[in-house]
Amino acid sequence: TSALPVYTLEEVTKHCSLDNGVWVTYKGEVYDITAFVAMHPGGDKILLAAGGSLEPYWALYAVHEQDHVFEILSEYKIGVL
Ligand code: HEM
Repeated sequence: TSALPVYTLEEVTKHCSLDNGVWVTYKGEVYDITAFVAMHPGGDKILLAAGGSLEPYWALYAVHEQDHVFEILSEYKIGVL
């Protein structure tokens, strides 16, 4: 069992802008990446995934399939779906 909170997809979809916070999901886990947006090497493209799933975008931009990228993502985990 996990101590992390469970979020609904509806809650995730509300966090789709820098004003409301930028949340994304990946493999059933929820991340608040608001603080990372300005540091993203791929710039504002990251906002395409705001409020939704990273999978379709990371399938297109395979540069993310690296340990150092997953380490960054893990820092922003806030819960599970
Ligand atoms: C590059 C992280 C979401 C598009 C990168 C790199 C990191 C990163 C660390 C540099 C990788 C390297 O060169 O070794 C993340 C994280 C994301 C995220 C943590 C989500 C939390 C996205 C999304 C898109 C995207 C959703 C597109 C819709 C790109 C592109 C690059 C890139 C195009 C290449 C930039 C370049 O080298 O010119 N990302 N990314 N990223 N990302 Fe993301």
